[in-house]
Amino acid sequence: MTTEDRDARAREILRGNDRGGYTIPTKGLYPYQWNWDSAFAAWGFSTFDKDRAWTELETLFSAQWDTGMVPHIVFWQPDPGYFPGPDVWGTGADPASSGISQPPVAAILARKIYESDPGAGRERMRALYPKMVAWHRWWREHRCAEGVAAITHPWESGRDNCADWDPGMANVDGSNVGEYTRRDTGHVDASMRPSKQDYDRYLAILQFGKACGWDQVEIVKNGPFYMADPAMTFILIRAHRDLAALGAVLGEDESELEQWADELVAGLPLMWNSEIQAYDARDLRTMAFAGCLGSGAFLAWLAGIENAEMEQRLMAVWDGVRYGIPSNDPKAENFNPRRYWRGPTWPVVNSLIAMGFADAGRAEEEARLRRETVELIEAGGFFEYFDPVDGTPCGGDHFTWTAAIWLAWASPSAKAGG
Ligand code: SER
Repeated sequence: MTTEDRDARAREILRGNDRGGYTIPTKGLYPYQWNWDSAFAAWGFSTFDKDRAWTELETLFSAQWDTGMVPHIVFWQPDPGYFPGPDVWGTGADPASSGISQPPVAAILARKIYESDPGAGRERMRALYPKMVAWHRWWREHRCAEGVAAITHPWESGRDNCADWDPGMANVDGSNVGEYTRRDTGHVDASMRPSKQDYDRYLAILQFGKACGWDQVEIVKNGPFYMADPAMTFILIRAHRDLAALGAVLGEDESELEQWADELVAGLPLMWNSEIQAYDARDLRTMAFAGCLGSGAFLAWLAGIENAEMEQRLMAVWDGVRYGIPSNDPKAENFNPRRYWRGPTWPVVNSLIAMGFADAGRAEEEARLRRETVELIEAGGFFEYFDPVDGTPCGGDHFTWTAAIWLAWASPSAKAGG
């Protein structure tokens, strides 16, 4: 297949997953609008249809709660093929949605989309700007009380079952969640998905949120799971700054966004684990570190954070596999090269890490990461994630964000940085 053919295939995937104003991640496995998936979809669309790119973000923000939160799933249409659906979440939101959020990459990608054609994007971005600021304010008020960004559910991180959450998950009692039927394992081999024990605990955390009417103060104070997330913190730092840059272009006073980014940078020492010489996920109930060197820490460059000791550790992690940045250290006992976030490499995360490398002037690392991601997609197709050791494609096929990052970043035809 030529690059042209592969680009055409990626566009077909985006069009095929388009449900009219929003794009599903892939048919069957994920039949709704997911928050960060949509932001990447918009980036992909922006390479061939700017109007459709902005519409994707507008649809996502049309589901924003009055509190400013933008939910992680918007259930636009009923679909019995997914669990847990809107009734299980029971948020009462209109449109129906989940009760947690997801990594705020929207402003990062909106900036790229805007800069690719400021004329076409100005009014669209102007209308989105206050909504994005309200969401970022929600993050600061409801997830950053300890100085860094925290999550109240592994699903909120977008990296559901990564080893980073093991200390927090160990203290979640999943024994009383009742009977339920998973749907994900009907679409994808169970060995590539989170375990039954993980799902029991995911549901226990969800049920706590539902029982308190999704009261965010109560969830943060007494919820069964509360962990500091380096990846979320790095993404939020970057997103605050990108939104500030957009605000400046639009003539808005963006100083509070800069201040919020600086506050997070000042909070980073809380997540520094000297045992592994890296920023690390930390359980905010017990203060235990996860001791995990995975793709989350690699997002430091995205936030302009550099550290020589950490770099040495991280490069050894990368060198321990053949393809892309692994979601877990291949030397760790809990490394599993095909189980979702416990080892696989994710092209979409590689694209974010590469953005950080590029902005840090690390052209060599950026080129290597792009090359390895291209090799995976060329040999395996537009899958959700890949085995970083032998390149086996894993999870869902015809995957929106893999097609999107192909068009905007990985494809030899892509303009560097989108
Ligand atoms: N990623 C989760 C799932 O697999 C939910 O966001 O269903």
